[in-house]
Amino acid sequence: MVDGGKLREFFSEAPDDIALDDVDLARLPAHLSIIMDGNGRWAARRGLDRSQGHAAGVDSLRETITACVRLGIPVLSAYAFSTENWKRPEREVNLLMDLFARTLVAELPLFHQERVRLELWGDLGALPAKTHATFMRGLEETAGYDTMVLALAVNYGSRAELARAARLIARDVALGRLDPKTVDEAAVAERLYTADVPDPELLIRTSGELRLSNYLLWQIAYAELYVTDTLWPDFDRWELLRAIRAFQGRERRFGGVAGA
Ligand code: FPP
Repeated sequence: MVDGGKLREFFSEAPDDIALDDVDLARLPAHLSIIMDGNGRWAARRGLDRSQGHAAGVDSLRETITACVRLGIPVLSAYAFSTENWKRPEREVNLLMDLFARTLVAELPLFHQERVRLELWGDLGALPAKTHATFMRGLEETAGYDTMVLALAVNYGSRAELARAARLIARDVALGRLDPKTVDEAAVAERLYTADVPDPELLIRTSGELRLSNYLLWQIAYAELYVTDTLWPDFDRWELLRAIRAFQGRERRFGGVAGA
């Protein structure tokens, strides 16, 4: 249930170009997903280490989580670490893994307070033991919550996810649990990490890059895309409202015809 008082307070002191009243609270995306990009550039522009950009990115994520809870958006997902990100310098990978663990511990009280349920999408087995254990703790402690799902894609790649779904289907066929003739879109969808959430309706990418970067390729078939030049550490509640306003201004046709 959205608390109107908390919502108004959270979105008070609006800038000139956007305010809470500019979005229709009855037409919010059922699933909002974000490719958080630009932490490194944000740090470089300030003469800071990339790790400080990632640390600033955590603040943006926290603000976005709170904003989505206040608005009553049921599912928020974010791309935290891709299967390709292992190619980064070892030091940066280690710092990110450490940051994930520390952030999760630090933010658990927020999850409890707002009753946010954590989901993790990706091959978690490859994560360092401490990060893995912290994530497992987050999953366990929030399993019963129902205000909002926060899904973090960690060691996630869409092609790897689809290959995994194909393996699961092949296994079920081999075990005689599944008839190959019945393998349809639903059979694939229910074997993806995202099986229990609706597809994203709005995908935001920060830092101006016009790429999907192997993220939720199956699930975003009909998502509206919103790219902002804002770097992720500068993304805030007002940028979120601008994205939602743009989303609500789009005509969604799902392959049909206009106005039908
Ligand atoms: C992309 O910026 C950002 C990342 C690869 C990491 C995002 C992670 C966080 C914001 C921390 C989230 C915390 C948890 C617990 C999940 P980039 O480094 O690619 O930036 P650049 O393109 O400017 O170099």
